[in-house]
Amino acid sequence: MAEKVIPIRVAGAPESAAPWDGAALRDTLGRPIRDLRISVTDRCNFRCVYCMPRKVFDANYRFLPHAAILSFEEIARVARVFVSLGVKKIRLTGGEPLVRKDLAKLVALLAPLGADLTLTTNGSLLARQISALRRAGLQRLTVSLDSLDDATFRAMNDADYPVASVLEGIEAAVAAGLAPVKINMVVKRGVNDHQIADMARRWRGTGHIVRFIEYMDVGSTNGWRMDDVVPSAEVVRRIGEQFPLEPVEPNYTGEVAERWRYRDGAGEIGVIASVTQAFCRDCNRMRLSTEGALYTCLFAQTGHDLKALLRSGAPDDAIRDRIAAVWRARGDRYSELRTAETARLRKVEMSYIGG
Ligand code: GTP
Ligand code: 5AD
Ligand code: SF4
Ligand code: SF4
Repeated sequence: MAEKVIPIRVAGAPESAAPWDGAALRDTLGRPIRDLRISVTDRCNFRCVYCMPRKVFDANYRFLPHAAILSFEEIARVARVFVSLGVKKIRLTGGEPLVRKDLAKLVALLAPLGADLTLTTNGSLLARQISALRRAGLQRLTVSLDSLDDATFRAMNDADYPVASVLEGIEAAVAAGLAPVKINMVVKRGVNDHQIADMARRWRGTGHIVRFIEYMDVGSTNGWRMDDVVPSAEVVRRIGEQFPLEPVEPNYTGEVAERWRYRDGAGEIGVIASVTQAFCRDCNRMRLSTEGALYTCLFAQTGHDLKALLRSGAPDDAIRDRIAAVWRARGDRYSELRTAETARLRKVEMSYIGG
């Protein structure tokens, strides 16, 4: 069956992929599928300058209508099929996942699948939702926090949220039993790189793990320039000058963060060098968009529609075969091939597909 084609979002299916035969599923570069990232909404209460610049995502921006987005039951069904194909980790993302109503209900549907179940959030709405999420079976949490300095943070989220709203969310997560938390900071030169050492200092000794992310050319609205990127090697050097660091082995193959620990035993940090040290070789991530399209890369220009099949009354086997076919045909390694030209391509937005 031909797939529906929607520019930028949905493309044609690979035509000659063999049906799933139970053998280990590998893409064209021999990579297994392990990690499913589910975007539950394309909306967000922040307007981070590097992700949803306000001049693009303004009052006239057309977010997905309700009828276009997958229901929790549909998401859970797809997730179950993914687990049968070898997925071990499920991450809920957005936009901001906590703006989707009753998210804990989705968590409750996913928890019994047995995969590692985690969530990436901006933290601002966490305090009032975390108990329900925890009760529903959420196991881990990643909170984005780009600065501890209020003026810098407000300028970056461009929605006037104070740092305190995120810190409150992190505290609530700890109280709910979700510690340690991972804290993600996207570093943009000249904007928040003066906060690198402060972030390290603030979270040292707490058990939480800060990860410093290189600013990436995702989407086509953030005006990315290589000059804006602070290489992870520089981050490690700058922190190491104040708090000596040593490298740590990865927790698992394909981990995106490179781990470093403080020599004085005060815990660890991570750096995510997706621009200067691409990690495509072990990339085992598939992404499911809010409207039910599969994306084989964060930098994809097109996705593969699954929603039509889901809503056609097709059995799980057919869903599984389609997912397997998309994975088998996958050859993405965008970050290894990045150039100034590819950076200018029209790619899927991070707010649409999640982090
Ligand atoms: P753990 O499950 O805790 O190990 O989390 P993770 O390492 O998968 O990290 P997380 O999902 O928080 O990803 C951190 C950041 O890394 C994301 O927000 C992205 O900026 C970046 N990232 C994650 N996956 C990819 C990827 O496949 N490609 C690229 N280029 N960047 C990625
Ligand atoms: N570069 C790097 N990371 C980004 N994120 C969003 N946009 C970018 C970008 N351009 C991160 C957020 C959050 C996660 C959802 O993705 O900071 O941690
Ligand atoms: Fe929202 Fe996260 Fe994008 Fe910021 S980075 S605008 S919090 S989705
Ligand atoms: Fe995976 Fe694409 Fe990121 Fe490379 S650029 S690690 S293929 S998502």
